[in-house]
Amino acid sequence: MPVTLFDPIQIGPLHLRNRIFMAPMTRGRAQADGTPTAIMAVYYEQRASAGLIVTEATAVSPQGVGWVNAPGIFTDAHERGWRAVTEAVHRARGRIVLQLWHMGRVSHPDFHDGALPVGPSAIAATGETVTPLGKKPYVTPRALAKSELPGIAADYANAARRAIAAGFDGVEIHGANGYLVDQFIRDGSNQRDDEYGGSIANRWRFPLEIVRAVIDAVGSERTAIRVSPVGAYNGMSDSDPIATFRYGAERLSELGIGYLHVYEQLADASAADAPPRVLPHLRKAFRGPIVLNGGRDLASGNAALAEGEADAIAFAQKFLANPDLPERLRTNAPLEQPRYATFYTPGPEGYLDYPTLAER
Ligand SMILES: Cc1cc2nc3c(=O)[nH]c(=O)nc-3n(C[C@H](O)[C@H](O)[C@H](O)COP(=O)(O)O)c2cc1C
Repeated sequence: MPVTLFDPIQIGPLHLRNRIFMAPMTRGRAQADGTPTAIMAVYYEQRASAGLIVTEATAVSPQGVGWVNAPGIFTDAHERGWRAVTEAVHRARGRIVLQLWHMGRVSHPDFHDGALPVGPSAIAATGETVTPLGKKPYVTPRALAKSELPGIAADYANAARRAIAAGFDGVEIHGANGYLVDQFIRDGSNQRDDEYGGSIANRWRFPLEIVRAVIDAVGSERTAIRVSPVGAYNGMSDSDPIATFRYGAERLSELGIGYLHVYEQLADASAADAPPRVLPHLRKAFRGPIVLNGGRDLASGNAALAEGEADAIAFAQKFLANPDLPERLRTNAPLEQPRYATFYTPGPEGYLDYPTLAER
């Protein structure tokens, strides 16, 4: 019998009841200072039948902040707010890990009393962002000095320690979608000429220092990372994604982390503009569990598992709109459609009001 979405899976110390994971989704429902709110506990508890919940991206430090009403994990109040979330999910027999976030160059001076956001190089992302003062174009970041890097790695380690203290089952470093870790990895945003830029090994140096700092803080089995090798969001690019991410997967495999989460959009491989498929290379390079995300449904998710491409499938928008997604997939029930207008708006509307099958 081929493996299916409904089979359990062991990830490090965690016995997970199915392979239907909830992908990380920023929802902007925290307080302005990043403290999680009571409705966040309800939202995650509603989705506790996931094999594993990966939370929305959560800032590791004041410098890492840059999204209106996104949560943090660097104060006692943050830690207390998250404890209510983990307790609610655990009461419902769910499992939940926290996604650790530093936005790097795609933050904005409005979040930092006028100071510039930071990145590997002084290269601006293209496009606009939203700050507490409205829509603004991205600014050119300040290139980090080498001497600042150990402090940022320590911020990740402290955030990971706080996450475990708040009851999380582990942490996932956000290395995807054009935020600080990804900005170091890919050569479109990293043009440093010291040992943190240039070669693939140099571009992975700081990301791997962060991973090791988090492992030292909470253990390798509770540490994971998410990557998006060909994702273009936030103005990202790399001249050789297969080589770049194969190298990273090899090093991460040696470190024995809990899982590798890969965002690779399901695409028509025969299309002229289809990006290269990186996942098969990561599968060969990384010995641990691989979580795959991007446009999957019941059929394509099961196919990816049966073919051995990945060990679990993460669903984002389908989980946003269907709190009981595993049950709906198991019974092949119709799915609710996500409402885009309320993805990031404050309050319970478009957040807590998606019905379960029983409530329809
Ligand atoms: C509202 C929303 C917020 C998101 N926030 C995050 C995030 O905080 N961290 C992250 O790694 N990806 C984030 N993503 C990307 C999703 O995790 C996922 O990669 C993407 O939606 C594709 O998966 P899907 O086809 O199952 O929706 C977000 C996506 C959506 C729709």
